[in-house]
Amino acid sequence: MLTVAVLISGAGSNLRALLEAANDPAFPARVVVVGADRDASGLAHAEEFGIPSFVVPWRGAAERDAWGAELQEQLQVWQPDLVVLSGLMKLLPAAVVEAWSPRIINTHPAYLPEFPGAHGVRDALAAGATRTGASVIVVDNGVDSGPVLAQERVPVLPGDDEHTLHERIKPVERRLLIDVVRRIAVGELDLTAASAH
Ligand code: GRF
Repeated sequence: MLTVAVLISGAGSNLRALLEAANDPAFPARVVVVGADRDASGLAHAEEFGIPSFVVPWRGAAERDAWGAELQEQLQVWQPDLVVLSGLMKLLPAAVVEAWSPRIINTHPAYLPEFPGAHGVRDALAAGATRTGASVIVVDNGVDSGPVLAQERVPVLPGDDEHTLHERIKPVERRLLIDVVRRIAVGELDLTAASAH
């Protein structure tokens, strides 16, 4: 059974989808802990599913390394096989990425390498793209620059705003995330090999 820690900042809809998938005894992974950089509303999903959670509050970029060290301490308590960044809106310090690499993955609401960064949906709209997408990647020390594990196109429709487009992307993101976690758990996807490319 693959054990997973999930880090969030927001509503945690991707987290919830993973918790629901993992509720099926046939699913080969379990979420063992949920962490956040703030009092995220998505922590309620962890509580509902009886999963322990922790918050290491973000204290500004000048404190990034101390924040990362505290986060790392919390993660180490649970010794997860995999860390999933699911809407964590802060860049992890390199030491944390290196501690887990390549067993640390991220979901992103664009078809990377197109539109990396915190505003992938907004940037796709601003660029006038007619299609964007969703991606799941291995986290490296860049901004959304790690190896792509899965991705899928999503159309941009006339009249879309950031919200409507993001809502069309999110179900795809969730499906890709659940499938990537499953493939890692059953050994279909080898993160070390994926990271070597
Ligand atoms: C997702 O699109 C994620 O990729 C991101 O923010 C969203 C998180 O949504 N950058 P939620 O917290 O899972 O609802």
